[in-house]
Amino acid sequence: DSLKGQMETLRTEMVETDQKQYESGDIPADKQPLDARFFWLPEEMLEAYAKEREASELGRIFKVANGLHDQIDAAVVLGIGGSYMGARAMMEACCDPYHNEMSRAARGSKPRMYFEGNNVDNDASDSLLQRVRAGGYADSDAEKRHAIIVISKSGGTMETAVAFRQFLANLESELGSEAEDWLSRLVVPVTGESGKLHDLATEIGCDEIFTVPDGVGGRFSVLSPVGLVPAAFLGLDCMKLLEGAVAMNEHFKTADYADNVVMQYVAVNHLLSQHRDKSIRVMSVWSKALESVGLWYDQLLAESNGKDGKGVTPLTTLNTRDLHSRHQQHQQGRNDKVFNNVIVESQRTDSLAVGHSQRNQDTLNDIAEKTLPDIMAAAIKGTNDALHADGRPTTDIILPQIDTHVLGQLFQMLMIATVIEGRLLGINPYGQPGVEQYKTNMNKNLGR
Ligand code: PA5
Repeated sequence: DSLKGQMETLRTEMVETDQKQYESGDIPADKQPLDARFFWLPEEMLEAYAKEREASELGRIFKVANGLHDQIDAAVVLGIGGSYMGARAMMEACCDPYHNEMSRAARGSKPRMYFEGNNVDNDASDSLLQRVRAGGYADSDAEKRHAIIVISKSGGTMETAVAFRQFLANLESELGSEAEDWLSRLVVPVTGESGKLHDLATEIGCDEIFTVPDGVGGRFSVLSPVGLVPAAFLGLDCMKLLEGAVAMNEHFKTADYADNVVMQYVAVNHLLSQHRDKSIRVMSVWSKALESVGLWYDQLLAESNGKDGKGVTPLTTLNTRDLHSRHQQHQQGRNDKVFNNVIVESQRTDSLAVGHSQRNQDTLNDIAEKTLPDIMAAAIKGTNDALHADGRPTTDIILPQIDTHVLGQLFQMLMIATVIEGRLLGINPYGQPGVEQYKTNMNKNLGR
């Protein structure tokens, strides 16, 4: 009851602050939110607002992405942490798992997408630099170029800045005499209102520079141009993504405590960590497409609430794969975990049956009619029952399917939950002062 009261108060505060910000104009009208209002007009009004739509940030994102679909075969997204995890999560959740291996026609002319600038791994960078050069793919359209989407809010992150320098040089040499015409189109920066990357993009003469709104930290930026630019390049439905997030906001604001998925998620997890010593929070995803969403959440939770000696340790597991690696410890090791299952109700493709075989040495004919989703459902129930028998708590988050609308809801649910939990812990979920020390040391070691 006391937690319920605290959360109700926090909710009221958040809703009021939000409202005040809009009303006071702290968020300028043209940034509310990304001018999506021009896209949500009733059909008959769309034409009247065509100019505003085109000029809005969202309109510019669509224009750049759609304008390049026919021109490029690949896009390299450079970014790290919050400037990387969301885009990768969306690609892995919503695109065909073999998107990058598909022919151009099968991809519907959407570019292959690769991620770099999230490390300083020599061999990985070298391999991608070779690969994105024309002819670097087995079935590439040699006529097609590649684009660089470089994302860094501060503009000064070492990993991303170094990669950008290298990939820019690679692209420039690849373009040769065409560089003058093409470089400004093929380099798509997403950064703060000012800073090193902003200056560099201005020097290159980039046609568009997309901005990360002030006050939106990296790990909370997936629904800003940080996530939307790569999503638009992949042809994902950005409006549905935003609509999903808006729907979750509305749900959080209006649903009763007992039915409020954000508050219920926080309540269960927070109480278990505070009063039952569950210091490890496992996000147990039951779909390969969601592993990167789990990793996105790992970063969100770890970097937001791992402060002042507080906060739980997040961990993503992908099942049933990890039932054969981590599960033994989770079932019988230290009882310090809560398992939040993320379960997908329906698949994108037809269910595959096990099938009958003349060679029944594998003894599977008795379940020949069962499908992979049947086996998955049996595994989920079997795992939950087994964990409960050993006193290990679980929750189920049920997604009706995986698409951008559902993903928008999930992202928003977990972002709000993280902020509420940070507040309950008495810490500031924004900022990441603990990450600065390694950067200082690294620079010192580089003689800077
Ligand atoms: O969530 C965060 O704020 C961080 O993980 C940042 O996104 C990350 O450090 C990258 O920062 P930047 O976008 O400034 O390059």
